[in-house]
Amino acid sequence: MLLEGKTGVLLGVANKRSIAFACAKAASAQGAKLILTCQNERLEEATHKLAEALPGEAQVVICDVSKDESLDAATEVIAGLAPQLDFCVHSVAFANREELEGRFSQTSRSGWHTALDVSAYSLTAVAKRFAPLMTEGGSLVTMSYLGAVRVMPNYNVMGPAKAALEASVRYLANDYGPQGVRVNAVSSGPIRTLAASGISGFSQILDIAKERSPLRRNTTPEEVGDATLFLLSDLSRGVTGTTLWVDSGYHTMGL
Ligand SMILES: NC(=O)c1ccc[n+]([C@@H]2O[C@H](COP(=O)([O-])OP(=O)(O)OC[C@H]3O[C@@H](n4cnc5c(N)ncnc54)[C@H](O)[C@@H]3O)[C@@H](O)[C@H]2O)c1
Repeated sequence: MLLEGKTGVLLGVANKRSIAFACAKAASAQGAKLILTCQNERLEEATHKLAEALPGEAQVVICDVSKDESLDAATEVIAGLAPQLDFCVHSVAFANREELEGRFSQTSRSGWHTALDVSAYSLTAVAKRFAPLMTEGGSLVTMSYLGAVRVMPNYNVMGPAKAALEASVRYLANDYGPQGVRVNAVSSGPIRTLAASGISGFSQILDIAKERSPLRRNTTPEEVGDATLFLLSDLSRGVTGTTLWVDSGYHTMGL
């Protein structure tokens, strides 16, 4: 029971395919009490159903990471539910569909702002609110992708967003390290989820990753959940400011 006695928040559980839900299952099975957040009222009932499917205790709070008022309200509710937090999984990203096809050079100013705000700045917005609740130290984990460091077709504006996210991980790790709060990213291989379905040609990305990665298979949400569990638990107490690849080794290949 690696997370016995610990309480954590998971942002980004949209449905049972969400990477955040795989993380929730892994954390809940290891004894953690969870608070799942959803973006709006519309998703609340479905998120409650997902919370009920977990082996342990889980509550649901609304939090739209693109709005400071929503983040502040959620932080207040979370502080009431759990005076002390031990971990947080940030598994949130968004870009307008029209930005996820064609040439990167056609990215619009508003498309850039939206993608970078929701997918990258939100980690800092979350860290500055939740880290003060981690009074006994803690662990914050976010989800990145190979597009942060390599060109992936149609990933476009999400590439710079993930690059900014990974850089933010390093700066946040330095800010919060002295209070014992660690900050890391998991860089997952491609997984068929709601967010991924917005990327044009995603099936081909899956096929190529399977064919060329050293393990010759696609990444599963459970593999990402288990690696995240490691980063949330004390087993990784010496690890911060890093990106852990969970992609069947695909990132290491030249061709
Ligand atoms: N699926 C993949 O292939 C893959 C690979 C690497 C990294 N990732 C990353 O994993 C994370 C989770 O994505 P997923 O693939 O599980 O898809 P998903 O669609 O299940 O999850 C994305 C989540 O972001 C949430 N979200 C979007 N805008 C929000 C906002 N303004 N406020 C609050 N929540 C908001 C959605 O509600 C959803 O829960 C993302 O950061 C994604 O970039 C995914």
